[in-house]
Amino acid sequence: MAPEIYIINGPNLNLLGKRQPHIYGHETLADVEVECVRVAGEHGLRVRFLQSNAEFEIINWIHEAREAAAGIVINPAAFTHTSVAILDALNTFDHPIIEVHISNVHKREAFRHHSYVSAIASGVIAGFGTQGYVFAVQRLAFLIKAQQA
Ligand code: DQA
Repeated sequence: MAPEIYIINGPNLNLLGKRQPHIYGHETLADVEVECVRVAGEHGLRVRFLQSNAEFEIINWIHEAREAAAGIVINPAAFTHTSVAILDALNTFDHPIIEVHISNVHKREAFRHHSYVSAIASGVIAGFGTQGYVFAVQRLAFLIKAQQA
């Protein structure tokens, strides 16, 4: 069976397309999922695409990914800047992790400049809009292939 990647989205990203479109754009999370599934498919990967407003649910999905996933793309949203618990969960995951932010967090408020998740991420993508997810999937596919070689 084709390897699976988890794409995990944090709080308020269910409102993508409606939420501050001048910052996050007009595409919905469903649009992002379609693109990610398409691009992952081109690389022979399956996708489990997830979103939650609850920290515990994100942690539980990371635990599930330990057994099920070859890599993780994660946009932890506001939990990026607050959650040691999500960092601890990611620290138990043995495969590549790519952190994505739709907006350029470094151009925004100072509290968005620090990410707990960056301490474990193989790479960080910020400020490329929802296209960042596609780049993340492509990079993950490259890293997964490199691991298998
Ligand atoms: C975000 C940036 C975070 O600072 C913010 O809390 C979000 C979305 C982004 O994708 O740009 O909810 O992760």
